[in-house]
Amino acid sequence: MKIHWFLPTGGDSRDVVPEGPNAHWRPPTNEYLAQIAQACDDLGYDAMLTPCGTACEDAWLATASLIPLTKRIKFLVAFRPGFLSPTLAAQMASTYQRMSGGRLLINIVTGAEPRELNRFGDWLDKDARYERTGEFLDIMSNALSGDPYDFDGKHYRVAEATTREVPEPRPLIYFGGASPAAEQVAAEHVDVYLAWGEPPSMVAERIERMRELSAAKGRTLTYGIRFHVIARPTSSAAWAVADEMLAHMAPEAIEEAQADFSTTMSEGQRRMAELHSGDMGNLEVHPNVWAGIGLVRGGAGTALVGSYEEVADRICEYHELGFDEFVLSGYPHLEEAYWFGEGVLPILRNRGLVEGVAERSANASTFR
Ligand SMILES: Cc1cc2nc3c(=O)[nH]c(=O)nc-3n(C[C@H](O)[C@H](O)[C@H](O)COP(=O)(O)O)c2cc1C
Repeated sequence: MKIHWFLPTGGDSRDVVPEGPNAHWRPPTNEYLAQIAQACDDLGYDAMLTPCGTACEDAWLATASLIPLTKRIKFLVAFRPGFLSPTLAAQMASTYQRMSGGRLLINIVTGAEPRELNRFGDWLDKDARYERTGEFLDIMSNALSGDPYDFDGKHYRVAEATTREVPEPRPLIYFGGASPAAEQVAAEHVDVYLAWGEPPSMVAERIERMRELSAAKGRTLTYGIRFHVIARPTSSAAWAVADEMLAHMAPEAIEEAQADFSTTMSEGQRRMAELHSGDMGNLEVHPNVWAGIGLVRGGAGTALVGSYEEVADRICEYHELGFDEFVLSGYPHLEEAYWFGEGVLPILRNRGLVEGVAERSANASTFR
């Protein structure tokens, strides 16, 4: 099992909504991002996921700046394939692998919201965008193989696509997208299929379908799931943090977010918003799975909330469903990386699910 953390390249805060007296907004400076990446490097997380979009820093550049400041942690760089030539993307990935000692993973984001896509000059409709993503991944993967690749498709025509040297290792391709067109592309082209943290009842059938679709293409995928997390020594301490976060969500902020989600073109976002429909009442949609974050935040909207043991148990439950990778985060990202990394990671290591040494020997400071 792999456990990843999130690099908040759009900024960080103590509350989900970054405004307000309790939020203590932290801008995504190189120094602050380095603190989080170094903490995660030390705590034993596998990689840092970055977001991509107007609201955050560019993921290639932000993570590249952290390579010399970290030792082993990988970077799961998100980008939108429509905005780059696939051969150039292969070249960037190839260079990144050499400059970082093989620490690149790629997250392909096809994108859903027209306003955001139009801003970058992308006007294709959704099915065409996914079709283009498929062609892009075909070219990028082949360009990384060492054999010059010719391709003549609907969206791209390239001749002898290749890079200076074959990267070692070839970066794994991650991918999120819940619509039928997304599932088809994932089944054919990607290594790791990512879902936002839906309750097991919703996500189990998706894994089942993805297994069938990829098997039909003679492929086997790895599955990853994205959650926020609030893990504390006791359940009540964790829920107290969640309750406080909820108390800091202004009704206007919830209304504004619901109005925004109601027009989303993203199937994944629609499924996240459906978990609560803006209702602050029943937010524990499965034991220890709290939909409160999604009241005001787009994208990943659920958190694993509970004691260290409860959160570890829940991760095991999702692991049994078929998820081998967990992409986690929490507000603020530095402190929550420690809560989970010191509280839950050792339990997962003791259960033999995560590599690494569970216990660190402590030396009490003494002058004798
Ligand atoms: C784990 C995960 C991370 C994602 N990260 C981003 C992101 O950084 N930027 C973005 O615009 N969309 C992101 N997405 C959204 C999808 O990549 C996809 O483009 C969107 O959900 C539309 O697809 P759909 O309608 O097929 O669900 C992410 C999705 C998942 C599951």
